Amino acid sequence: MSQPLLTLGIETSCDETSAAVVLAGKKILANIISTQIPLHRRFGGVVPEIASRQHVKTIVPVVEAALEEAKVSWSDLDHIAVTAGPGLVGALLVGLSYAKALAYSLELPLIGVNHLEGHIYANWLVHDVQFPILCLVVSGGHTDLIYMPQHGQYEYLGRTRDDAAGEAFDKIARALGLPYPGGPEIDRLAQTGDETRYDFPRAWLEPGSFDFSFSGLKSAVLNVINQQRQKKGLALPLADLAASFQAAIVDVLVAKTIDAALMKEVTSIYVAGGVAANRSLRQKLSVAAQTEGLEVCFPPLELCTDNAAMIAAAGFYRWQAGDVANLYLNATPNLPLASWAPTSG
Ligand code: KG4
Ligand code: ZN
Repeated sequence: MSQPLLTLGIETSCDETSAAVVLAGKKILANIISTQIPLHRRFGGVVPEIASRQHVKTIVPVVEAALEEAKVSWSDLDHIAVTAGPGLVGALLVGLSYAKALAYSLELPLIGVNHLEGHIYANWLVHDVQFPILCLVVSGGHTDLIYMPQHGQYEYLGRTRDDAAGEAFDKIARALGLPYPGGPEIDRLAQTGDETRYDFPRAWLEPGSFDFSFSGLKSAVLNVINQQRQKKGLALPLADLAASFQAAIVDVLVAKTIDAALMKEVTSIYVAGGVAANRSLRQKLSVAAQTEGLEVCFPPLELCTDNAAMIAAAGFYRWQAGDVANLYLNATPNLPLASWAPTSG
């Protein structure tokens, strides 16, 4: 069987070992995700050494399972795309070393993908994306507003100055005694909470700024939690705290995203990263966008968090543009999202 344009994607940047087979950067034939969340949960967060060791254990069976599910063999593959950063260096190195060994032995092109661009390209797996677009990337490590006039061009409009949105969710969840990862727990609790009970601060920063800051909000919520704890015998109003905290984050994300879209005169907004799974963000951003006549698109829930299909999709477009790596490709924990396509005109 000959399947042209078949990409094997590999992702091991944090606590998910994932391998995917994707056709033409679009059609997912397999997307196997082995999550380590249960292993890290008792430590309240990801333990890098445990993550690396677990990736070593699971990478081979996960890749083999992806090939089996896709019903393809090694010789059907056309390229290998792998996350090169940002992420935990030990975790990244597992996927990267395995991808390099495969590329060498199968004599296939190796494509290094930035994890954040992977999140953005998750949208290509499900939407018919038309440039130019505005991307809101909200993950455990990043909160970025990025203008994309075409494939591989990333113009930063704003980013977080301290905590990322997902990081803030995880830290507050931990303070509330909720398990890791905290984002989904806060999302669930907030469903039954009163978001107006606590008026937590929204950091708008200087007028016109598209940067974010969530550390002041985090301190304000922690103060309320501590005050409540001092009132002995009273249980924490978990749902109201979760809802009020979530509303403070979501309000700022929504307002700045809409402003940035209007400023850049784009008609489509694409959201990416783990926090894109948040129900309140999905709902409030959709309503605000509709009011302004803008289209807003989210990946389906299973493609919001870390997975290798998104890496294969991004890798496919890099490969199409001739952006192929060599076997010296290294893991870069703080890899910036740099453009790889030349500016047109
Ligand atoms: O993109 P991702 O899987 O990994 C990184 O690249 O960081 O994002 C993980 C982050 C975690 O902070 C997690 O708490 C958050 O996404 N998250 C959520 C939700 N689902 C995952 N945050 C808020 N609401 C959710 N439903
Ligand atoms: Zn991620």
